[in-house]
Amino acid sequence: MKTIIKNKNTISKKDNLIILANKNTKLESYDLNSDEKNYVKSQQKNKQEIIVINQYSRKIIIVNPNKNKVGNLFIEKIRCLANKVFSELKEIGSISFKNLDIDNIDSYAFIEGLSLSNYEFNNHKSKAKKGKILTINIINNNGSVNNSEIEKINESVKLTKDLVNTPFSHLKAADLAKQAKQAGEKSGFKTTIFNKKKIQSLKMGGLLAVNQGSIDEPTFSILEWKPKKAKNKKPIILVGKGIVYDTGGLSLKPTKGMDIMKVDMAGAGTVVGAMHAIASNNIQKYVIGLIPATDNRPSGNAYAPGDVVTMFNKLTVEVLNTDAEGRMILADALSYADKYKPELVIDLATLTGAAARAIGHFGIVSMQKNAEKYHEDLKEIGNMTHERLAEMPFWDDYDNLIKSDVADIKNIGGPIAGAITAGKFLSNFINYPWIHLDIAGPAYVESNYGYRGKGATGMGVRLLYNFIKNF
Ligand code: BES
Ligand code: ZN
Ligand code: ZN
Repeated sequence: MKTIIKNKNTISKKDNLIILANKNTKLESYDLNSDEKNYVKSQQKNKQEIIVINQYSRKIIIVNPNKNKVGNLFIEKIRCLANKVFSELKEIGSISFKNLDIDNIDSYAFIEGLSLSNYEFNNHKSKAKKGKILTINIINNNGSVNNSEIEKINESVKLTKDLVNTPFSHLKAADLAKQAKQAGEKSGFKTTIFNKKKIQSLKMGGLLAVNQGSIDEPTFSILEWKPKKAKNKKPIILVGKGIVYDTGGLSLKPTKGMDIMKVDMAGAGTVVGAMHAIASNNIQKYVIGLIPATDNRPSGNAYAPGDVVTMFNKLTVEVLNTDAEGRMILADALSYADKYKPELVIDLATLTGAAARAIGHFGIVSMQKNAEKYHEDLKEIGNMTHERLAEMPFWDDYDNLIKSDVADIKNIGGPIAGAITAGKFLSNFINYPWIHLDIAGPAYVESNYGYRGKGATGMGVRLLYNFIKNF
């Protein structure tokens, strides 16, 4: 589970070893006998990308990537190869790593892929296996790998994955807030938690409406990282959807579709992870996280289709489907963000099945308003981290789809363009440069997704961290 990354200058004959190489690399100095050398040569000739030699006291793994991809896609290929190597490690807990093709193969990406692969979620198994501690010793690190940065990003991604994987039975809105606070105590950001009373006094109508059917109180958490020498005066604000469970409410979901709805706080989990990564790496940028949280369920008091809700910013919303609840709580958080006069606001949400259907788990559906330049930058970081954005059109035409007969707007837009009408709904609550990221597709996968694993993927943490670092 934990990955420790160290520097080392010599390799002993007992060290398990990973060598990044190319098809011409001579491996004479690595204590291979002549059979082994011949084996490696023949495998190199066959363009085998991963060559494993099981010696008596150690394993040597030679990674020999085909250069059939370039740029960011080659870097992603390296992360994926690292994931395959990880599956070869099994019970090995310590490995030395040497890059013999240093000009051509990115060590950072390899170490990243290896350490991200080292994740298991078995908090709820009665005979819990202890996850393994993996120590990676980088031989002759020339500075291209910042060990502590990778370790901290890695821990942040795991934090997000743990939060998202934790079932609703163990993570109510108050628990989510508490976990955010704990992450802040560890990494250095400050957390303020509003309880129901405070949320009522602020008249956050959207959050309160969704919470009406719950037996648990809502929370609204403010995560603040304001380093003294921050380069930006106006904060960047990250807003995360914190629906700790989405039954759909009175517009009840069918069992298939409801079963994974513990995932519906992935936006919030990603904000916590990103804030943790930013603070623990002491990034000199002023950043605020906002997390509205509740579950969405039916009950005698639940909000109902047909209701009209007055939101925090006084706009009125006709609720026509209680399953479109994410936008109700996000809207209040987005209007609350106004008071900070933000430079940019990015929200993350498992907002629509439509986004997931449109592009699957391979990327993030994005929209923006007044933030074209920032969105371009984010896209570039997305390609770099392979947490890629697919931008939807955001034409005025879609605004008509959420006009209401009885209130200012309605909370659904009909059968077409569901991801976009959800974004359009949110755009009624912003007065600043804004990017909307719908992560319903990639946040959670039901079968293995390479180094991202199975279940929660943590997608978005590396994207936000790198974006803000370079902001
Ligand atoms: N939480 C869901 C969206 C979702 C779907 C997340 C699949 C993760 C995986 C959201 O609250 C929702 O139910 N959206 C509805 C909106 C509709 C009622 C307009 C949807 O997508 O069907
Ligand atoms: Zn819903
Ligand atoms: Zn939802």
